[in-house]
Amino acid sequence: MDWGMKNRLSQVIQPDGHCFFLPIDHGYFQGPTRCLEKPGETIKPLLSFVDALFVTRGVLRAVVNPDNSKPIILRVSWATSMASGDLANEEITTSIEEIIRLNASAVGISVFIGSDYQRQTLLNLAHLVNDCEDYGIPVMAVTAVGKELEKRDARYLALSCRIAAELGARIVKTYWCEDFQKVVESCPVPVVMAGGPKCESEREVFEFVYDGMQKGAIGINLGRNVWQNAHPVAMARALQAIIHENATAKEAVEIFREVRAKCV
Ligand code: 5RP
Repeated sequence: MDWGMKNRLSQVIQPDGHCFFLPIDHGYFQGPTRCLEKPGETIKPLLSFVDALFVTRGVLRAVVNPDNSKPIILRVSWATSMASGDLANEEITTSIEEIIRLNASAVGISVFIGSDYQRQTLLNLAHLVNDCEDYGIPVMAVTAVGKELEKRDARYLALSCRIAAELGARIVKTYWCEDFQKVVESCPVPVVMAGGPKCESEREVFEFVYDGMQKGAIGINLGRNVWQNAHPVAMARALQAIIHENATAKEAVEIFREVRAKCV
């Protein structure tokens, strides 16, 4: 692997081999998502707990301080919205020059396996890998399901992750599921877990994150289950403990309670 690629990967994946990415890219199709109406305010208390921000170029320029930023994973596919049609109908929206200009440590792009736009989104990934590999920029593929959340089982996710890795993604982001080891074991590149809609309880989040880590994920890319929680700082600290300190779900609940008590 070339020095630039290694260096960028080491900015987003920590020396322990694990990572905690904070996605705030939701506005790219959801508009002003709850608790992300002012993304600059949302991230301020959370930045010290996370390893990288997953963000669009617009929000990056508008609210992220370039003098003191976490590594940036730039969202570079979109062109759909909740207000219309099929969420899978995405294109690459950001040029390689812009990716370099913004000094992104990595880029993120969605693929929608099994959708009407499978071919288009896989070709998007292939073209992005072609461009980014020339400059040593890692591509993170997001195995997206749009509104069809019920698709998220091990068979489907293993298929999606493997195809994304075969096309050259350096990291694959996917959903946690039962038998998650089947997804990780058949994917030749590191797998990061996304969160999905907010869970019923904090314990539920900690349990799936802990289980996924035990089964081989290298980390998380968790948004709504962090910043839509009533206590986002406690949530971020507890998740950091699972990712980087090998805390169990039970220990994470204790950490969450301790930090919440200090914050009120
Ligand atoms: C949307 C994304 C988001 O980054 C992803 O959904 C992670 O956020 P959350 O944990 O809120 O699901 O890629 O396609």
